[in-house]
Amino acid sequence: MSTAISPTAYNYKVVRQFAIMTVVWGILGMGLGVFIASQLVWPELNFGLPWTSFGRLRPLHTNLVIFAFGGCALFATSYYVVQRTCQTRLISDSLAAFTFWGWQAVIVGAIITLPLGYTTTKEYAELEWPLAILLAIVWVTYGLVFFGTITKRKTKHIYVGNWFYGAFIVVTAMLHIVNHASLPVSFFKSYSAYAGATDAMIQWWYGHNAVGFFLTTGFLGMMYYFVPKQAERPIYSYRLSIVHFWALITLYIWAGPHHLHYTALPDWAQSLGMAMSIILLAPSWGGMINGMMTLSGAWHKLRTDPILRFLVVSLAFYGMSTFEGPMMAIKTVNSLSHYTDWTIGHVHAGALGWVAMISIGAIYHMIPKLFGRAQMHSVGLINAHFWLATIGTVLYIASMWVNGITQGLMWRAINDDGTLTYSFVEALQASHPGYIVRALGGAFFASGMFLMAYNVWRTVRASNPAEAEAAAQIAVVGAH
Ligand code: HEM
Ligand code: HEM
Repeated sequence: MSTAISPTAYNYKVVRQFAIMTVVWGILGMGLGVFIASQLVWPELNFGLPWTSFGRLRPLHTNLVIFAFGGCALFATSYYVVQRTCQTRLISDSLAAFTFWGWQAVIVGAIITLPLGYTTTKEYAELEWPLAILLAIVWVTYGLVFFGTITKRKTKHIYVGNWFYGAFIVVTAMLHIVNHASLPVSFFKSYSAYAGATDAMIQWWYGHNAVGFFLTTGFLGMMYYFVPKQAERPIYSYRLSIVHFWALITLYIWAGPHHLHYTALPDWAQSLGMAMSIILLAPSWGGMINGMMTLSGAWHKLRTDPILRFLVVSLAFYGMSTFEGPMMAIKTVNSLSHYTDWTIGHVHAGALGWVAMISIGAIYHMIPKLFGRAQMHSVGLINAHFWLATIGTVLYIASMWVNGITQGLMWRAINDDGTLTYSFVEALQASHPGYIVRALGGAFFASGMFLMAYNVWRTVRASNPAEAEAAAQIAVVGAH
């Protein structure tokens, strides 16, 4: 879309770019998820090659779905929301363009280096130091663009969605920079600056807050804008949203030790992490209720609007996973769930049900507006996508619950003489049917993404540059 830039227009170009890449990376990341899920059913799919082995492709899956798919959705929506709620264009087009190309470069770097086996070995922070530095530079630039735009806002208040996006940007920078402190020994290898239990603690302070701030707080920013917009209702309680914000960000940061129960981490730290995780239920549900109640008086819209369905069902899964998480953080429950597929089910209740569903809903909401169309090419296809995604998520998490509890119970079963009742392989054999169902559920979810790609492509193709540019004109204050 290369039309002349009007100073009275929003910068939709960068939003369009990130929105389209969300769909592209979603297909690749989830397609890879289906492939590694299939490897767990048919190990022959490892092909006997190091580059295609489960161990190397798994971190590529997590990087693609979290940082490429989730990250592009967060960039797209935050740039869209901050402009519309501040009634102003992004502070700098060139810095925004740098964040787009820089972010794509980091992702391509991950696609090349992870299968080759270059990794720090820290989960969700695998990228080696040159890529980690590029990521830090892109992220700080993102902060400059976002907060710079807020400083030139035409509105008095800073809309609550921007608070959540802002916290997500600041905390992610802090986590990434602290956890990545390391000593490079070559271009492709570095060693962590921390040692032993301290290293583990810093890693899971990072890991848990990557969940809390990347996979939760940013998406709550999305929730606070797109749910009221799609429902055409004001947010249920602005006051609750402020309490929600402060409670969430002050509590999340303490919960990391629940990833290190029964390890060398001091016992008091484990108990503190457990207590904070249980308390975290309150703000999580406060936020979910605030989103759900926004539909008061508009529930009938769910019958005809599949985009709203995506958004509401994502909140239901958010509520479910933030109930399950605090339960799993209780040490006695964790002694059963840890190392099992239950954790994987919990992850995907949050990742597919919450993160992916709300992103998909937000992208469907934005695409027609970004390209100057009244609506998406086909509402029927959105509806089909909704059902594929919902059924896929349910199949995924239900099969992992069954597998997880089966594994946990089989591993701890002992005979009268103290020997183990089952060998590890027996527990693995018992898990096989669950792995088939999970791969099937994943295939449902991923196939919905193809419908989305087709629908987006048809909508974009029907648009022309003049229409798209007209859509970017800044609306009058108060009309966001
Ligand atoms: C079609 C959809 C998907 C499928 C089939 C899928 C499949 C898988 C599989 C097979 C694993 C490895 C499990 C194991 O090691 O036993 C995994 C791990 C993971 N996936 Fe997915 N995935 C999908 C979508 C997503 C999405 C959209 C996200 C995030 C937004 C996500 C985040 C993760 C994370 C964080 C892990 C690591 C979990 C852990 O270490 O506990 N996945 N996925
Ligand atoms: C109140 C909210 C939550 C709490 C207290 C919580 C708690 C937990 C607990 C106890 C574990 C298992 C740790 C282990 O045994 O290793 C876990 C794992 C995980 N959770 Fe949550 N959870 C919450 C919400 C979420 C949400 C909303 C998401 C996703 C969007 C999520 C993503 C993950 C991931 C990715 C892991 C796996 C980490 C790993 O081992 O690689 N959690 N969570």
